[in-house]
Amino acid sequence: MHASAAHHVAIVMDGNGRWATRRLLPRVAGHKQGVDTLKRCVQACIERGVGVLTVFAFSSENWGRPTDEVSGLFDLLATALAKEIKPLHENGVQLHFIGDRSGLSPKVCAGFVEAEALTAANRRLVLNVCFNYGGRWDIVQAAARVQARGEDMSEEAIEASLALAHVPAPDLLIRTGGEQRISNFLLWQLAYTELYFSDALWPDFGGADLDAALAWYAARERRFGKTSAQLSGAGDAMHGRQAA
Ligand code: FPP
Repeated sequence: MHASAAHHVAIVMDGNGRWATRRLLPRVAGHKQGVDTLKRCVQACIERGVGVLTVFAFSSENWGRPTDEVSGLFDLLATALAKEIKPLHENGVQLHFIGDRSGLSPKVCAGFVEAEALTAANRRLVLNVCFNYGGRWDIVQAAARVQARGEDMSEEAIEASLALAHVPAPDLLIRTGGEQRISNFLLWQLAYTELYFSDALWPDFGGADLDAALAWYAARERRFGKTSAQLSGAGDAMHGRQAA
């Protein structure tokens, strides 16, 4: 059984720093260009019928970067919240900001709440922006919520409390920038995701690169722990909501 179109695509947008350094620009210039690439990517995903796009914008570990780079990323976030929410809303995008909000300012958190409320009814594309996010944090916060509710600890209970419980697991993970790592991204959710690594630096990642990744995904056989022979007999009902 070959996968069909990817419904949920997750992206580690790596390579902004190198893109800028090669041009003798400050690293933040690469992140700025990265925001433009993300805007184009959202449009490209809509045009290709992708239903969910989840991007890693700021990891729990990114706090350790030089102060000017961290503040540059927060400035880009503030600018994006001020300028991009309205066009995204008009384009039918439902926004979610995923991550540990306890480390963020009240102003940023209010921006997240406002953007999520404004776009909640949109159905064209769900865009999850992971900001101050880490896969380990997500599993721990989910387990803590299960415990606080006094429920038995189970895979189902944890899954229902993860920060991405509103969407199915990613079908396809794309990482740009030539590195082949997960870097504490969606540790739980990537269990059966197809992993695609592109040498393109994120600011250079365009529609043709996205098409190459989607075509590669469409040719993958998703076995979910079963054998090929079982799959050819069993059809699409293999893995409940994930069967592609
Ligand atoms: C990794 O490249 C990229 C990041 C740490 C940040 C990604 C963020 C964006 C594309 C824009 C963020 C969007 C908002 C709304 C703020 P890197 O810096 O590790 O690149 P390198 O590996 O070349 O050094």
